[in-house]
Amino acid sequence: MSLRLGDLAPNFKAQTTQGEIDFYEWLGNSWGVLFSHPADFTPVCTTELGRTALLKGEFEKRNTKVIAVSVDDLASHKRWVPDIEEVNHVSVNFPIIADENHHVAQLYDMIHPNASEKATVRSVFIIGPDKKVKLMLTYPASTGRNFLEILRVLDSLQLTAHHSVATPVDWKNGEDVIVTLNVPTEQIKEKYGVEANIKKPYLRYVPQPK
Ligand code: BEZ
Repeated sequence: MSLRLGDLAPNFKAQTTQGEIDFYEWLGNSWGVLFSHPADFTPVCTTELGRTALLKGEFEKRNTKVIAVSVDDLASHKRWVPDIEEVNHVSVNFPIIADENHHVAQLYDMIHPNASEKATVRSVFIIGPDKKVKLMLTYPASTGRNFLEILRVLDSLQLTAHHSVATPVDWKNGEDVIVTLNVPTEQIKEKYGVEANIKKPYLRYVPQPK
């Protein structure tokens, strides 16, 4: 059965462009983003991996490690990396898993046969420090992902893991958040130090907690 939110992310050992890893050991206590791309030497993937490298500092600020995977082999990844670096003016500073035996792709259900028999689709998994799956995205091969959205979700996940809040539509870090329904309205002032902006009894905003 495929993975669902809250499931334990499967561990694996793999060859990567930065050496052999045990996924759990590599993650340590960090958050993780595991994302698949259909194939090396393809245009959209070249832009995605470049953007990921450019955003390394943003992922680090969020205590998050990023790792890519496709079913190409290590030699292919290593031949492709200079292209990504040249086109995007960046050094590829995260590992790319060589999954030619489809081990990781099968564990994470990244091959969708009705889309492609052989290649991984564009999957994204965010994994928490507890090794549980916090987010799953699946994009078609023809659509490059929005990596700023992945950062936005990390911000929301990390905030809501520590505070009784949820984030509204199109929320961005620093904007007002919604108090979850387990907090009675009369406790909001004491809990958050501010009066709530009450739109409805079930829709109560406060500034984003620090
Ligand atoms: C790409 O990365 O450009 C791509 C890969 C597979 C199918 C279509 C596009």
